[in-house]
Amino acid sequence: MNLPKISTGTAQSAERVHMPQTLPMIAGNWKMNGLKASLEVATAIAAASAEARADVVIFPPFTLIGQMAEALKGSHVSIGGQDCHTETHGAYTGDISAAMLADMGASHVLLGHSERRLVHGEACALVARKVQAALKAGLEPVICIGETLEQRLSGLTTDVLLNQLRDSLPDDLETASFHIAYEPVWAIGTGHSASDEQIIEAVAVIRKFLSHRFAGAPHPHILYGGSVNAENAGHLLGLEGIGGALVGGASLKAESFLKIIEAAG
Ligand code: 13P
Repeated sequence: MNLPKISTGTAQSAERVHMPQTLPMIAGNWKMNGLKASLEVATAIAAASAEARADVVIFPPFTLIGQMAEALKGSHVSIGGQDCHTETHGAYTGDISAAMLADMGASHVLLGHSERRLVHGEACALVARKVQAALKAGLEPVICIGETLEQRLSGLTTDVLLNQLRDSLPDDLETASFHIAYEPVWAIGTGHSASDEQIIEAVAVIRKFLSHRFAGAPHPHILYGGSVNAENAGHLLGLEGIGGALVGGASLKAESFLKIIEAAG
């Protein structure tokens, strides 16, 4: 079987790889933000982006998923949870299962976000089990990976990404049923996105891994996340191998998120 040729080199040496003809994914991670009044933001986004050439997904806090699904019924905007438990139900105080997310109208779920990995101590093996639970519930997981500043400065970025990919993707995972978000931890919420070269290099590492693991199958979306905003989105979305953006702060306001969606088209 011929694998697509993928360079793990620099921006200059990166080769063009086959991209499936799918729309870019523009995802808004609201994190722990949003009260009932914020539903207006979601409806404004849906109304103004109806013609968008992008798959738009909003990841609100758990508390808004049901109402947002109701408010956006029939629109092109999908809704996702920001995490899920590995089990469908049981004595797990404070947790939410993938089946519950699906029951509320979610179609996607973020898993392994660095704020879960670092603040809640989530290991890759746990993320892999959550991915299995999400798929079982019919959700599309967006699996987040990314290095810390300390790891980058120690020259460990490639190793960290490969380890996270190897250990966060369950053995029975089929390609195209999930998405990967590359979010360098040091670029999140700082106003400083990674450089073109850093992003292209990381995406090439991810694509090479996926090509070997899922030989011949179509690639999932690879999103970039970390200080994406209305001004830099057009440029970042045009980088080699990037299939979308995972947006934090700039997804909380309809105006800035709509500009990012527009930039994808
Ligand atoms: P910012 O866009 O606020 O940097 O957040 C990125 C992020 O963590 C999205 O998941």
